[in-house]
Amino acid sequence: MNYTEIYEATKFIESKITAKPSVAVILGSGLSDLANEIDNPVIIKYSEIPHFPVSTVQGHKGNLISGQIKGVNVLCMQGRFHYYEGYTMDEVTFPERIFAAMGIKTLIVTNAAGGVNKNFSCGDIMLITDHINFMPNPLIGKNDERFGVRFPSMNEAYDKNLRQIAIQSAESLGIKLQQGIYVAGTGPSFETPAEYMMYRTIGCSAVGMSTVPEVIVARHCGIKVLGLSVISNVFNEDNNEEQTHDEVLENVNNASKNMVKLVKTIISRL
Ligand code: HPA
Repeated sequence: MNYTEIYEATKFIESKITAKPSVAVILGSGLSDLANEIDNPVIIKYSEIPHFPVSTVQGHKGNLISGQIKGVNVLCMQGRFHYYEGYTMDEVTFPERIFAAMGIKTLIVTNAAGGVNKNFSCGDIMLITDHINFMPNPLIGKNDERFGVRFPSMNEAYDKNLRQIAIQSAESLGIKLQQGIYVAGTGPSFETPAEYMMYRTIGCSAVGMSTVPEVIVARHCGIKVLGLSVISNVFNEDNNEEQTHDEVLENVNNASKNMVKLVKTIISRL
């Protein structure tokens, strides 16, 4: 991680936006609709920001959007960087360093994930209670004490109070909220049946290719995290049909209305 690059990117973003954000939101695959609900939006293209990586994957936009949701100043990432795209872990987690440098204290991460819990259905929303990491750790390398300690705790990676707010918000909206452990692999291939079975056996409920590096770096910088997954496909050992990226996106789009409502309500209660 390069402190000067982070500093320059942060200064650039601060020069463009008018309100100081207190919450950052990462909008995952097909969840970018929340961006349409931002009041007084200021849109900054990733390509304009010095040192910022540029997103390439289909269905992902590359915009940083500042504004208000329910009167709360937010900074939203419309599109994220995946390790499988070939970015380094420093690039994947560059935005979280900027959030920390801007003084943002809360991060809401969203993603699309495959369901491995037998009780899950396509389109469910899952509150991430914890994670298991099968990706390289983004903190490998020299530690910069200006961001955080060498050995950060992951004891409560997903903040308990924020989880409580999410549970209460879902209840008040009548939205079913599943809960479970998110496991991250590098992708880009989907899991074999044996891998889905292994993840189920070790207690995971959902599997994806993002989020965990971002969460580890956010926690390293002292940012509190809330994580939500849209279950875009469910593993069924009796009928393991091939999923395509297009199917994943379609299923996510169908569920994203509830996700948008939920995230807006959570933000209003922070
Ligand atoms: N596996 C990994 N990542 C995913 C999946 C999956 O089944 N669905 C959506 N993202």
